[in-house]
Amino acid sequence: MNNVLEWLDERLGLQTIYSVVLDRKVPKVNWWFTLGSASAILFVLQAVTGMFLSIYYVPSPENAYDSIQFIMNDVAFGWLIRGIHHWGASLMVIIVFIHMLRTFFLAAYKYPRELTWLTGVILLIATLGMGFTGYLLPWNQRAYWATTVGTEIAGTVPFIGQFIANVLRGGAELSAVTLTRFFAVHIWFLPALIGALIGVHIYMVIRLGIAGIPDKDEA
Ligand code: HEM
Repeated sequence: MNNVLEWLDERLGLQTIYSVVLDRKVPKVNWWFTLGSASAILFVLQAVTGMFLSIYYVPSPENAYDSIQFIMNDVAFGWLIRGIHHWGASLMVIIVFIHMLRTFFLAAYKYPRELTWLTGVILLIATLGMGFTGYLLPWNQRAYWATTVGTEIAGTVPFIGQFIANVLRGGAELSAVTLTRFFAVHIWFLPALIGALIGVHIYMVIRLGIAGIPDKDEA
């Protein structure tokens, strides 16, 4: 076994990766500092369960609703995979938000971590975007009307509102174009953006180290 590990280490630099990524010095921290990693794990969980859902889900107005009924009632463990994806989505929004609050209240956004915060802001918006685009996919009454309201709210932005609403819907009203558009953004555009940004975000966390809990003497 050791020989195999040495052979791989010589070629992949596993020891270096281990010491740089995992064996880092951290200041005194507490459980609130685990929420960034929890957000990353939830993202992976959503990605994996989403891949399985996409085996049966069909993004067209004629089939979307029925394909979800099929997943829930006929596919082995389909109810479980969909349940995890459904509740995981809400949990991810909550955990990302609390992670943001912890970095805010412990002032971890200050020099030199401004870009960690900025990438975080985009990650939060993209995570909310995942929720918004995913909500339409079941194509039931709730999904349809929630997206109608959501896109109408976007339409109230001064000057460019109508343009934004039309781009979101792919026309003046919700249609098959809206569904395919939301599906594409939900499974390709936003996950690619989030995956890349998590990479940049965590690179900076490793490079800059974790900010400690501010103490009285520093203030
Ligand atoms: C998908 C969303 C996100 C993931 C996966 C993620 C991941 C992480 C991880 C693993 C850390 C290491 C320390 C810790 O866990 O607290 C971290 C730190 C940090 N995150 Fe996030 N994050 C996300 C969203 C956000 C958001 C929304 C913000 C703020 C707007 C943010 C701002 C920061 C800052 C400033 C740090 C540095 C903390 C320090 O050095 O003590 N992150 N993030």
